Amino acid sequence: MPHDPSFAPTQLAARAAYLLRGNDLGTMTTAAPLLYPHMWSWDAAFVAIGLAPLSVERAVVELDTLLSAQWRNGMIPHIVFANGVDGYFPGPARWACSALSPDAPRGRHTSGITQPPVHAIAVQRILDHARRRGRSTRAVADAFLDRRWGDLVRWHRWLAECRDQRGRGRVTLYHGWESGMDNSPRWDSPYANVIPGDVPEYQREDNKINTDASQRPSDMEYDRYLWLVEEMKAVRFDDELLSKAMSFAVEDVFVSAIFSVACQVLAEIGEDHKRPNADVKDLYSWAERFRAGVVATSDERTGAARDYDVRAERWIATETVAQFAPLLCGVLPHDRERALIRLLEGPRFSGHPDLAYALIPSTSPVSRDFRSREYWRGPVWPVMTWLFSWCFARRGWAERSSTLRREGLRQASDGTFAEYYEPFTGEPLGSMQQSWTAAAVLDWLG
Ligand code: SER
Repeated sequence: MPHDPSFAPTQLAARAAYLLRGNDLGTMTTAAPLLYPHMWSWDAAFVAIGLAPLSVERAVVELDTLLSAQWRNGMIPHIVFANGVDGYFPGPARWACSALSPDAPRGRHTSGITQPPVHAIAVQRILDHARRRGRSTRAVADAFLDRRWGDLVRWHRWLAECRDQRGRGRVTLYHGWESGMDNSPRWDSPYANVIPGDVPEYQREDNKINTDASQRPSDMEYDRYLWLVEEMKAVRFDDELLSKAMSFAVEDVFVSAIFSVACQVLAEIGEDHKRPNADVKDLYSWAERFRAGVVATSDERTGAARDYDVRAERWIATETVAQFAPLLCGVLPHDRERALIRLLEGPRFSGHPDLAYALIPSTSPVSRDFRSREYWRGPVWPVMTWLFSWCFARRGWAERSSTLRREGLRQASDGTFAEYYEPFTGEPLGSMQQSWTAAAVLDWLG
């Protein structure tokens, strides 16, 4: 049942644009005004996607800011901190990256972990919009690609080499935050084996801003999050040492599928724009390797994908949105793919009869891990709706893509631009005025 007021598309687009302007600090857009007052890596990519129809020039600035904080090893950090802004924990002092790691950028404070590699999609959207504009805008987009091509390839190379050291075609993560799905049931079993040692004292900020404890991760979860940061600091964020030292290490099938798509997209851009053959070849080969890595996790009967717990040497099967990773990058044998689509659209996910909108909840409502209000344990995330809708369009599934777009817009017509929504009531939850939710709406309506 849609909430009142319900905005018409033109009003909604205007409000979304207004929101992004309000969250704009000049050269970076905060992920959300209070809860996330800095730049987050995958948020920034989605923000650039939303900015592109408004201003290609401003979208380019967003990605330039993010890439100017790239680490020397190639990693794009998950947070680029806004100068002089407090109110988020853990902030730069807790991460201490520049004091500890020679790879951390100078003159920018960042976190020491990474996030899902959706950036090539943003580059593609920017180039698409630029193509429809005048010569000077096209020149801005082309200059961006000239300037940043090498950085984008380095980013992908870091993921392919440093985060898949065993060549399995799956990206290894050392912190649940790196998945973007912090407290998803996917990570319950690997986190159960993380025993927090001496975690220096800390005070959460998030639960001062969002005071409803049912919407955020628990204190016990936070202890583990913060302990992993200490483990990383002990090895100075060194890529080689992390793979041995971290008590949390998982192969994330969803990030791997995103990476495969992103490599494919970047390779196609490279071909179109006459980038070095060697880069394009590497990108295609990573796209292929990670596609195969994703397929290898999928259940032969249902097609559902799984993560892998590197420490426990065990597959992690959960009824979460990550099961559908193979649909993003497209690889499954025909029958298995049909089965997986049936699972997605059936009563365990977007076809559940009690849903307010036919969208994909982060965790299946019939799973015993499901919590309707709790962050990645149940709510519907508009940015996920956007990602699936975009990938489905790319795969040639126009109807499936436009159904998600239509339902996503119906949900967003409440005008709160919430971070996530309660699946049954459509209640907006988490942070309001979340930049990437506005960005999804702008792309859909652009
Ligand atoms: N999503 C995390 C948070 O809630 C960090 O990336 O703060």
